[in-house]
Amino acid sequence: MDWREPIPWFAVPPRDRDRRADADPRRDGSARPDPERDAMRRALALGERVRGRTSPNPPVGAVILAANGSLVGQGATRPPGGPHAEVVALADAGRKARGGTAVVTLEPCAHTGRTGPCVEALLAAGIVRVVYAVDDPNPVAAGGADRLRAAGVDVVAGVARRQAADGALRPWLHALATGRPFVTWKFAATLDGRVAAADGSARWISGAGSRADAHALRAIVDAILVGSGTVLADDPRLTARDANGRLVARQPLRVVLDRRHRVPQSAAVLDRAAETLLLDTAAPRFALKALHDRGARHVLLEGGPTLAGAFVEARCVDEVVAYLAPKLLGAGLSALAGAGVATIDEAVKLDVRQVARIGGDVKIVGPLVWPEKE
Ligand SMILES: NC(=O)c1ccc[n+]([C@@H]2O[C@H](COP(=O)([O-])OP(=O)(O)OC[C@H]3O[C@@H](n4cnc5c(N)ncnc54)[C@H](OP(=O)(O)O)[C@@H]3O)[C@@H](O)[C@H]2O)c1
Repeated sequence: MDWREPIPWFAVPPRDRDRRADADPRRDGSARPDPERDAMRRALALGERVRGRTSPNPPVGAVILAANGSLVGQGATRPPGGPHAEVVALADAGRKARGGTAVVTLEPCAHTGRTGPCVEALLAAGIVRVVYAVDDPNPVAAGGADRLRAAGVDVVAGVARRQAADGALRPWLHALATGRPFVTWKFAATLDGRVAAADGSARWISGAGSRADAHALRAIVDAILVGSGTVLADDPRLTARDANGRLVARQPLRVVLDRRHRVPQSAAVLDRAAETLLLDTAAPRFALKALHDRGARHVLLEGGPTLAGAFVEARCVDEVVAYLAPKLLGAGLSALAGAGVATIDEAVKLDVRQVARIGGDVKIVGPLVWPEKE
């Protein structure tokens, strides 16, 4: 898979599709072309393509339509310090943006950070209508829609809001709301839930297709997190590689929780392929805070059962990506070592959003649903 393509497993099921957008008064139920809706679809795809390359900024997509509805510009957030999506799309459109519409996945920002406010760029370019998906909840940057309206721009909010909020923007929105990165726990297990055999061997539990899929996932996160146990047992490289085994251009930060300093200098995770951080803490929230402070908004937890158990118990896992291989081991490590669950009523559930076959494996994706606390 080309890692720049939109990641299919984040596709939102039809039942979740945005309803406010369906209520767009311009839609009359006929098959009439709807350039703004097509533009929003494109903007969402553009945002998907820059996942993992914009943190701590959100991965936003933007499209500029000329007054006659034709697409004249498009863009996505550039890496930190670079221009925001609207500015990239406006530059792409040039003078053709005058009198046109900007279609954006996030409310244009109204503040000056490392770059100028997007609303001023939109006004300067002569944009007369702005259609966006998600309100910007960031108190520092919010107010863009009000500023545009005050300047006489026609603003429509909430188009495809659910797709945008459940897609590329999800980790960023989560981090803004909670102060810690969004955590995806990824593991490969046998049908009887083992992540390693009795002799400790764990490589190649899942098939080649699942492994390629997992590499695509690594390419869109900011950091990969494991415990020292996984480094000592498997000596993994924890890099994102393409189908040919080549390193992808941007590598996530590799993080090992290693409070007893057991990781040897010779560990593959300390090679030069990517940056690595050894943290001598065992507290999930502390580790996540440290990563958030470094700008990470999406963390992939790839640790073994001990670390996964600690993160689940601390309610620090937001989503699970499980690859289940059609194999039985009957012994060996279970995927989760203790998660503070004593009875079936306390089981942590998965709100299954996707079930897919990858070769012989079954992939299951969904957010975790925690039992009510007493
Ligand atoms: N199939 C899969 O998807 C998969 C994925 C990963 C690993 N594995 C397998 O899992 C096995 C390794 O399991 P593991 O559980 O030892 O790996 P782990 O969870 O990655 O590492 C455990 C170690 O992390 C440290 N640690 C850091 N924070 C901790 C916390 N809050 N609570 C507990 N420990 C913490 C501890 O070492 P210190 O006390 O030294 O700090 C602990 O011994 C290997 O056989 C590996 O192949 C399988």
